[in-house]
Amino acid sequence: MPAKTKRPIIVGNWKMYKTAPEALEFVDKLKERLATTHADVLLAVPFTLIREVSQAAAHQDHLEIGAQNMNDASEGAFTGEISASMLKDAGATFVLLGHSERRQYYKESNEFIHKKVKRALQEGLKVILCVGETFDEHVEGRSLEVLEEQLLGCLKELQPDDFEHIYIAYEPIWAVGSGKAAQPQDVAQENSAIQAIIAKQWGENAGNALKILYGGSVNSENAKLFFNEPMIDGVLIGSASLNVADFDKIISQT
Ligand code: PGA
Repeated sequence: MPAKTKRPIIVGNWKMYKTAPEALEFVDKLKERLATTHADVLLAVPFTLIREVSQAAAHQDHLEIGAQNMNDASEGAFTGEISASMLKDAGATFVLLGHSERRQYYKESNEFIHKKVKRALQEGLKVILCVGETFDEHVEGRSLEVLEEQLLGCLKELQPDDFEHIYIAYEPIWAVGSGKAAQPQDVAQENSAIQAIIAKQWGENAGNALKILYGGSVNSENAKLFFNEPMIDGVLIGSASLNVADFDKIISQT
């Protein structure tokens, strides 16, 4: 499989943090920095911030705003849920799906995530699909088996062209929020395996088009190591994306 040339993709996942004034201050500062960086920056923000933040980010090259979740139905009597078309209407260009916190705390299955992936693509949203193994699966040497099950389960029935609109974020669960990032060379190996699984199922072109990120305790100290790996197209960052100075230290390393 050929190594990829790249413009690094940096996704900030704000989780359940920030009010509108905090978010707008962050984006104003971030915009000043983007002119001198060599990255595509995506911010996955809470639903309540999508409209205002995407308006603030409008006309800014290399900055996109998206959501952290959505419902699989197009509309309906689903109290408290948000649809893909609502996200688009608010200004989102992408949605994060299958994050380990959603799988863990809200019991989201591969089947449910699969329905969301299909709906998101149908509505024209780019998808960042998170996959990753638990610590026990990791030490038992079952990582690849788990990744394959998640990828095939969440992406089944897709067409090869769909992979132009999908990023995979490899996020080992033991590395998310733990302060213990995986080793970049191990991630590169897992990413090659992910690319091979996609290529086997959907063809070489799909495998080559696919962008594969790494997430889990990325910070300003270790980010460069991930940017340097040809098999890692970018990073998904949680806690280090909340403070604009920390985030800036990361994006300025691209
Ligand atoms: P972290 O979170 O960077 O705080 O480990 C990553 C994520 O949740 O995607």
